[in-house]
Amino acid sequence: MKKIFLLTFSSLLLLTGCAGSEDDNEASQEGNNESSIEQTSSDEIVPTDQYGRGAQSDGQDTNDEEDPMRELSEDSDEIIVYFSRSGNTENLVRMVQDQTEADVLELTLEDPYPADYDETTDRADEERENDDLPEINTEMPDFDQYDRVYLGYQTWSMTLSNPIASFLEDNGEELDGKTIYPFSTNAGYGEGDTLDRIQEMLPNSTVEESFSVEDEDAASSQDELESWLAD
Ligand SMILES: Cc1cc2nc3c(=O)[nH]c(=O)nc-3n(C[C@H](O)[C@H](O)[C@H](O)COP(=O)(O)O)c2cc1C
Repeated sequence: MKKIFLLTFSSLLLLTGCAGSEDDNEASQEGNNESSIEQTSSDEIVPTDQYGRGAQSDGQDTNDEEDPMRELSEDSDEIIVYFSRSGNTENLVRMVQDQTEADVLELTLEDPYPADYDETTDRADEERENDDLPEINTEMPDFDQYDRVYLGYQTWSMTLSNPIASFLEDNGEELDGKTIYPFSTNAGYGEGDTLDRIQEMLPNSTVEESFSVEDEDAASSQDELESWLAD
């Protein structure tokens, strides 16, 4: 796969002057450190304060108190496939699940990203630069059954997050002929080139218009998401 050299999200923040002062960053880090990681149950929308720069996770995908979401039927013709490190995209998943009859498959990694945000960005940048995407350890279903795939992901360094790029690289051909509905979260900088990347990695799929929302608005974006699903 072509190597992608992009500005890291941290450099972007610095360049755009949006990183705030060092004090602000420290304050925000402190805030994040003080807050406990939300433990989710599979049917709840969980607002968290883990947003944007500094968002911690518990070092698992998405938390180690719960089994990854895996709800596979024998007859549904639609499926939600997603990754979520810090829970924001997973909140959208619950809404899509609520509005559809879709099966659900959460992607997890052989080697989960660290809880620490900066360590995560460092590792993610290195993986992209070395074209060494993370190994997914989720057992894949037979995608033949499905016509529609809701693909849940997040913007990393203004491109597709590494786990989703890895999923598409390994399983893209299984999605040939299917219709893809991309939905994602970001920290306020938007989707970047994620849609172009998805289309490029799925040349034989139909990629529909995406739904994308800022992480801190994800848990309250039910109405917008429903309109997107209805279109
Ligand atoms: C490694 C990394 C890189 C990120 N890069 C960007 C970025 O370039 N632009 C942006 O708006 N948000 C960026 N974010 C923020 C995430 O997109 C955002 O917090 C998202 O909601 C995380 O989704 P999740 O909670 O489902 O893991 C980045 C987050 C991480 C961990």
